[in-house]
Amino acid sequence: MQDAADDLIRVMIVDDIAETRENIRKLLQFEPDIEVVGAARSGQEALEMARETEPDIVLMDINMPDMDGITATEAIKRDVRFAQIVILSVQAEADYLRKAMRAGASDFIAKPPSGDELIGTIRSLAVEAKRSKGEQKILEGTGPLPPIVGPGRIGPEGKLIAVYSAKGGVGCTIIATNLAVGLDTADTPTVLVDTALQFGDVAVCLNLQSKNSFVDLSSRIDELEVDIVDEVLLQHDSGLRVLAAPPRPEMADEINANQVRTILQYLKNHFAYVVVDTGSTMDDITLTVLDLADLLVSVATPEIPAIKDARLLFDLLSVLEFPKEDTMFVLNKMDRRSGITASAIAENLKCTVDGEIPFDERTVTTSVNRGIPFLIADKGQPAAKGMLEVLGAVKQRLVERAEAGTEERETERPRLFSRA
Ligand SMILES: Nc1ncnc2c1ncn2[C@@H]1O[C@H](COP(=O)(O)OP(=O)(O)OP(=O)(O)O)[C@@H](O)[C@H]1O
Ligand SMILES: [Mg+2]
Repeated sequence: MQDAADDLIRVMIVDDIAETRENIRKLLQFEPDIEVVGAARSGQEALEMARETEPDIVLMDINMPDMDGITATEAIKRDVRFAQIVILSVQAEADYLRKAMRAGASDFIAKPPSGDELIGTIRSLAVEAKRSKGEQKILEGTGPLPPIVGPGRIGPEGKLIAVYSAKGGVGCTIIATNLAVGLDTADTPTVLVDTALQFGDVAVCLNLQSKNSFVDLSSRIDELEVDIVDEVLLQHDSGLRVLAAPPRPEMADEINANQVRTILQYLKNHFAYVVVDTGSTMDDITLTVLDLADLLVSVATPEIPAIKDARLLFDLLSVLEFPKEDTMFVLNKMDRRSGITASAIAENLKCTVDGEIPFDERTVTTSVNRGIPFLIADKGQPAAKGMLEVLGAVKQRLVERAEAGTEERETERPRLFSRA
């Protein structure tokens, strides 16, 4: 329906005040790449209009008579997933921002907006909208998506994605965190689990302060049920649920591999995706994670020691009979100055590189210090662009594996680590 105008950024305005709608329209009218495809007076009208016009960007007021902007944001994100929603409001309080973020809003602009800020935000978010639209088409075209379940419901088993590197410091935590945020939607609730039990730093990277951790579940392993798990899981402002590593390293001794297995299995039964940030040691805990993993994202940096460790890992996976089709290889901190290219690494390791994330200290450090994954806060930055490609590749692989008949494979795969 929109082929001819595919390059134009389709913008929808939602505000109950006619004058505001008109003012925003005027700010955008001379931009050759922007097309206002509709203006709605209420949340309800916005939802109907969004379904019909499929906008790339929705400029959303918060306070409106029938359906408020936050509820409308949530509803639109469910139906038109690629639409990027910008909240325009005079209320810049943290509580509103948090609610808007949880509902799926991508950005916030204070009212009245300046033309430059509005247009700049629209253009930068449009990149994500167009990419996500393209990806949705690919996913729609490649058959059924992997099973979908929600917290509190027993459904088809979710997919466990382990992020691992034998070498420390290569970026597993950064990648696992952003991957989890990218996979977490209303339809595909996702939990991020930190099995680097001694020095795990997932909670710190997400600025989550609670002491709740793995220990609170492992100590009640025989009574895992929705209420208990729900209480122990932390929640990031984005809505992502997190099972944190214990707050002190010595507490890791209280957790054994069988408990980890039971907890991960429970989470697989209750979430669409379980993303696990593993520790670097190949111990019985990591082997348990691998045993339950539907996909392994192995990470390396363009440095000889990291490449050597990746080779050792691939050798080990082959001994363990971990399927090659379930393994992905991502290069992080790519930098032309290192002198080692992705193709040289691929050739050396005789494997495919499934994604590359550039060295981008500013974006990554800011993101960690703010506790907001860069996939949410800095989508236009180099690290985020690389990460979006990794996310797309992971989704694509999950679709392919689902098509290939996961059930059949699961019964065939030998156990890496026997149940005690
Ligand atoms: N693409 C990148 N560009 C620049 N710096 C990065 C990038 N990715 C990660 N870093 C930095 O590298 C460091 C290690 O990242 P991270 O904690 O994610 O690695 P890890 O593999 O989980 O390490 P650990 O072995 O300690 O668990 C962090 O300081 C992070 O800010
Ligand atoms: Mg880590």
